[in-house]
Amino acid sequence: MTHKILVTGALGQIGSELTSALREIYGVENVLSTDIQQKEKVDDPNYEKLDVMDATQISDVVSQNKITIVYHLAAMLSATAEKYPRKGWDLNMESLLTFLDLAKDKKINQIYWPSSIAIFGPETPKQQTEQNALAIPTTVYGISKRAGELWCNYYHEKFGVDVRSIRYPGLISWKTRPGGGTTDYAVDIYYQALEEGKYECFLSENSALPMMYMDDAIRATIELMQADADKLTIRTSYNLNALSFTPKEIAAEIQKQIPDFEISYKPDFRQAIADSWPASIDDSVAQKDWGWKPEFDLEKMTEAMLENLKVKLNK
Ligand code: NAD
Ligand code: SER
Repeated sequence: MTHKILVTGALGQIGSELTSALREIYGVENVLSTDIQQKEKVDDPNYEKLDVMDATQISDVVSQNKITIVYHLAAMLSATAEKYPRKGWDLNMESLLTFLDLAKDKKINQIYWPSSIAIFGPETPKQQTEQNALAIPTTVYGISKRAGELWCNYYHEKFGVDVRSIRYPGLISWKTRPGGGTTDYAVDIYYQALEEGKYECFLSENSALPMMYMDDAIRATIELMQADADKLTIRTSYNLNALSFTPKEIAAEIQKQIPDFEISYKPDFRQAIADSWPASIDDSVAQKDWGWKPEFDLEKMTEAMLENLKVKLNK
């Protein structure tokens, strides 16, 4: 059977790269990218405007395009959701429930929905945080992701919905800039290193957070979606590990290639968000269930980021 795939939030940091990767596997005509932008403004032959707050429109797009699989990425990230708590909750939660209901009613076969390391909270053990560690999030974003995970598990247990999920760490990429996240500094720093030779970081120098290069995240997502259902023991969301570093450590790595690069620190409200999250993640369950293994360490990622951004920024 040919898969017909719908990606929401497809113009975002992950969506833009995931859509390309899915199209390489399934063909452009079988992967419909959607986002909130008007169609005329988007240079993509298989794009539609789809507001994920509009359940009727979602249902129409799914039936008109005979969609079988949904990658539901549209969401409000941590820093923005702290500014607009109710809007963040509504967007992150209602849209997920709309897709879960469509799967329950057999209108779609499979859903991918990303969670985050933000589901953990200040009381969670910070190092090598385990799959089922205490998770009492203190951010709106974290609350919405934790609740979403529990809804995914509920729909799987109760209605047999094939929904799969990964708790992404902070994602680092050069193609599309991130927006509204607490881990965005680890992308901004590369741009500013090349453009300005210096960077003022909104987190303090020793704030360690789990991170991952986008190539690893895309590969993980597709591997999880293609894994045998029988092997999956987690239907909330899988812990996934790749890197863990502090602003000071990423700056030192950049200095290996740009020796004059300077970093300064001016923590803002995002520091409290970062302080509530783990520093590193134990992903042994993902390793065991579907063979997850990251490929990029800090050195390899920094080389890839600077090399690609030099071309992109014409430096
Ligand atoms: P992003 O902010 O770059 O992209 C989100 C996209 O959703 C944007 O293109 C936006 O236009 C779209 N959108 C917003 N409201 C919409 C609406 N009402 N209807 C349709 N589209 C709408 O986010 P991202 O970094 O690509 O994240 C994608 C998913 O991955 C999110 O669920 C996020 O929580 C999760 N995630 C991301 C990271 C990360 O580091 N980037 C880490 C953990 C989890
Ligand atoms: N990168 C995301 C954020 O900072 C984590 O989910 O919001």
